[in-house]
Amino acid sequence: MPTAYELMSDQELEQEITRLEAEAEHLRSLGLKLDMARGKPSPEQTALSHPMLDVLNSSTEMDDQGVAVDNYGAPDGLPSARALAAQILGVDPKNVIVNGSSSLNLMHDLVCNAYTHGIGGNKPWSQQGKVKFLCPAPGYDRHFKVTAHYGIENVPVPMLEDGPDMAVVKRLVENDPAVKGIWCVPKYANPTGITYSDDVVRKFAALTPAAPDFRIFWDNAYVVHTFEGEGDHLLNIFDALAEAGKSDMVYEFGSTAKVTFPSSGIAFVTASSADMAEIRAAFSVMRVSPEKVSQLAHVRFLKDLDGIKAHMEKSTGSTVPPGATPTAATSSRSTALRAPRRPSLAWRPSWA
Ligand SMILES: Cc1ncc(COP(=O)(O)O)c(C=O)c1O
Repeated sequence: MPTAYELMSDQELEQEITRLEAEAEHLRSLGLKLDMARGKPSPEQTALSHPMLDVLNSSTEMDDQGVAVDNYGAPDGLPSARALAAQILGVDPKNVIVNGSSSLNLMHDLVCNAYTHGIGGNKPWSQQGKVKFLCPAPGYDRHFKVTAHYGIENVPVPMLEDGPDMAVVKRLVENDPAVKGIWCVPKYANPTGITYSDDVVRKFAALTPAAPDFRIFWDNAYVVHTFEGEGDHLLNIFDALAEAGKSDMVYEFGSTAKVTFPSSGIAFVTASSADMAEIRAAFSVMRVSPEKVSQLAHVRFLKDLDGIKAHMEKSTGSTVPPGATPTAATSSRSTALRAPRRPSLAWRPSWA
């Protein structure tokens, strides 16, 4: 499909350049100091989690349901942290691993594991010739970098108003065994802020992939974020899979990076029991055991899903007023997160 610019005549392009140069000059003249880093909360937002730094001290009992917090062990994470992550994702805690501080890191490790060791007894992706990943576009560039890093062909799929174009996804997934996965941010997707409709989620769950080692990488980074009232509704993909009588098709990820501290949160993954057994085996080679002290701090601070909701409520209070344009005064620090759909709301992530 030609771009808008490709459809323009030379004269129209000249006019457009003049208009854009004037716009750039106007923005320069505002003297803004904006931190445009993607998905980066403002200092006001991270400050809301500073009290978490006080919940542990040298008198804290380093025990979580019989698990030593201050030593090796519990490779799946602390029982209380797994329960919290399970509540966040709406799944069974027995199918949850809490590990590390970055969900992207977990995604990377699972792409890497599929590439070197394969999924479900199938050959490693690296031994299957050309393999492909579907990339709803526009999307989150760090996802695409992971698959590109392994020489996997990233295939763009158009994003519609309610999620990826499922007719295209179905055609590619069900007819091409080289298609091994798809990157999805189902709630408030980068960069447009779209949340997948129930229909789209059900269509994902109903897929019959040509490749037995096809997995949906369901990055639910913004699962607990709300911006107006209850926020967007997202159908639980595992409920949709159960409805469709499917399993072993989804790896779901989350983290508290955008809830407490980016890069110092807790990260988690869930999948079917069979997939989790494989993930556990892979992680047992990559890691001894996770950062359980941070997990304990998170559980003591956030407590449960209601605690998370209350915490997120506080952060929506520190918003830029609806429709406000950042000024030199308001934007000297990294200001509230912004994205196209509802730009006034602080926890709306922003992506370049
Ligand atoms: C959709 C999405 N997934 C993952 C991440 C990174 O999360 P983490 O810090 O848990 O790796 C981001 C960060 O902006 C993101 O926007």
